Amino acid sequence: MWHAGGVSDEDRLSRAQARTIIGRVFKMAAPFRKTIYLSFACVMVTTATTLSAPIIVRHGIDAGIRAKNSGELNKSVVLYLIVVSLTYTFGRLLFVFVNRTGESFLRLLRLAVFRQMQRQSMAFFDRNKAGVLVARMTADIESMSELVQFGLLQFLSAALMLIFAIVVLLLLSWQLTIVALIVMPILVLASIKFQRDSNKAYLVVRERVGTNLSALQEGITTVRVIQAYAQEEEAIRKFKISNRALFASHEKSVRVSTWYFALIEFSGVLAGGLMIGIGGWFVHRGTVTLGTVVAFVLLLSSLFDPVQQLSQLYNTVQSAGAALNKLFSILDSKPEVDEHPAAIELPETGDLKVKNISFTYAASEIPALNDVSITVGVGEKLALVGPTGAGKSTLAKLMARLYDPAEGTVEFGGVNLKMATMGSLRNRIVVVPQEGFLFNGTIRDNLRIARVEATDTEIESAIAAIGATEHFAQFSDGLDTQVRERGSRLSAGERQLVALARAALVDPAVLVLDEATSNLDPGTEAEVEYALERLMTGRTVIVVAHRLSTVQRADHIAVVVDAKIAEYGSHNDLLARNGHYAQLARAWAQSHSITS
Ligand SMILES: Nc1ncnc2c1ncn2[C@@H]1O[C@H](COP(=O)(O)OP(=O)(O)OP(=O)(O)O)[C@@H](O)[C@H]1O
Ligand SMILES: [Mg+2]
Repeated sequence: MWHAGGVSDEDRLSRAQARTIIGRVFKMAAPFRKTIYLSFACVMVTTATTLSAPIIVRHGIDAGIRAKNSGELNKSVVLYLIVVSLTYTFGRLLFVFVNRTGESFLRLLRLAVFRQMQRQSMAFFDRNKAGVLVARMTADIESMSELVQFGLLQFLSAALMLIFAIVVLLLLSWQLTIVALIVMPILVLASIKFQRDSNKAYLVVRERVGTNLSALQEGITTVRVIQAYAQEEEAIRKFKISNRALFASHEKSVRVSTWYFALIEFSGVLAGGLMIGIGGWFVHRGTVTLGTVVAFVLLLSSLFDPVQQLSQLYNTVQSAGAALNKLFSILDSKPEVDEHPAAIELPETGDLKVKNISFTYAASEIPALNDVSITVGVGEKLALVGPTGAGKSTLAKLMARLYDPAEGTVEFGGVNLKMATMGSLRNRIVVVPQEGFLFNGTIRDNLRIARVEATDTEIESAIAAIGATEHFAQFSDGLDTQVRERGSRLSAGERQLVALARAALVDPAVLVLDEATSNLDPGTEAEVEYALERLMTGRTVIVVAHRLSTVQRADHIAVVVDAKIAEYGSHNDLLARNGHYAQLARAWAQSHSITS
């Protein structure tokens, strides 16, 4: 069996990189170093016993059979049995140890990567798409698991075996060693070629599997459109192309391994033939004993197998190295929004001051905020309005330090948010996002993520605080109702109620709300509005508003246009100015959502 695996040139590690990675792996493996040493010991034992079996056979032939000494022969037989059992026993043990080490390592690695992802700030997830991150966790770790499970073991023992086999052969007879090595150049050259070709073939297969998958996915997701325009035949034709390409690449990869394995078999037979022929002639001339020749024939596989294994594993090792490199680069990425070493607690309350902040998303060139300043006093309500893509949500996120501004500062009670402890920051300022995210679990679980240590009473009073007690009591299991994946069991309004109750549970001084753009039906709408009203009471509120009703409740309105605050004032002030806001208010008045 040949091991699938390969690495593209840009992923291939330099020698220095490889060295650092090996060092790091070894450091990470510290907790189970004992098992690693045990594995090493087992490899040494199996290598020694494997190589000594032919030598015992040699003794049996020369000192036993040919010398007609039954004592020596019996001794050899017993010894041979012992050595072979040892090989078997330690081989099994080795398998267990190596597996355990490998799997423990993968477990640590998965945990480390997951932990690191949890620590990352929003900007990280802008840069790395969730799909790619999941691929890191699954495919990259998977590509290592093959190596870890048996590849590493083979790699190690093959290397040792090769070295010691040559030593043993030389000790037995240098003349026969030369004979044994005659076919070696063919084998080495063929192995190098195979390693290169199979790497290339593997990369092509991998790429075409991807293309075929996306063709499949596209065909399925767009099937309605395809059928609407009766384009099934065209879709099938397109899929056929990528499907055939995939087939061809598999064929090619099989061809690559077929000739190689044929050649390997042939060199083995050739070497065996040469050994018997030339060795027999040496025996005839008395240069070596018959036992030595037999030992050599038996030892040939210890010489050739490692070469073959090493060449096959080379690609697996390389691709695992590349995968590790990518995973380590995730482990090394520092969260942008991190706690300052000298961080202090935020005061209980205070003004929220935005001073000349500018901000650009990593994925974009154009600033999402450009030199924005604004102050929200204690208990004041500020509404952010403006056209879509203007930067309202961005400003809201920066006011809660989900991102750090590139320039300027955001302060709460005179303390720069960058200098605040994460704990006090998340307790004082709570963000209720545009789409409240729910986890698979009960409603209670979904509230508790806001404060893990909250008691049931606290959870109930948080729900009572937003006036949603009755609503949740209607569910068959009350607060223990399963919301299913992403809250699919709940209506959009109910999901918002959960999100608001979460915020109430934290009981923050500042509330940052990103109002959902989608409208709810009037009944639910009223309930959510009531909950909001109660949640907002007595707090400083920054709300990204999409409804006139929300705006009218605010003390101040900031109109965000093109990454800047274009207008600021009260509802009536701004109407009187007859600018952006007045225009927006007219648009609202026309749309049916506020006719109520
Ligand atoms: N994660 C992101 N990565 C890159 N660019 C982003 C990201 N989020 C927003 N942007 C861009 O930044 C700009 C401001 O976006 P923002 O979400 O603040 O707009 P908004 O005013 O909240 O719009 P809406 O009313 O549609 O919610 C837009 O041009 C948007 O495309
Ligand atoms: Mg927005």
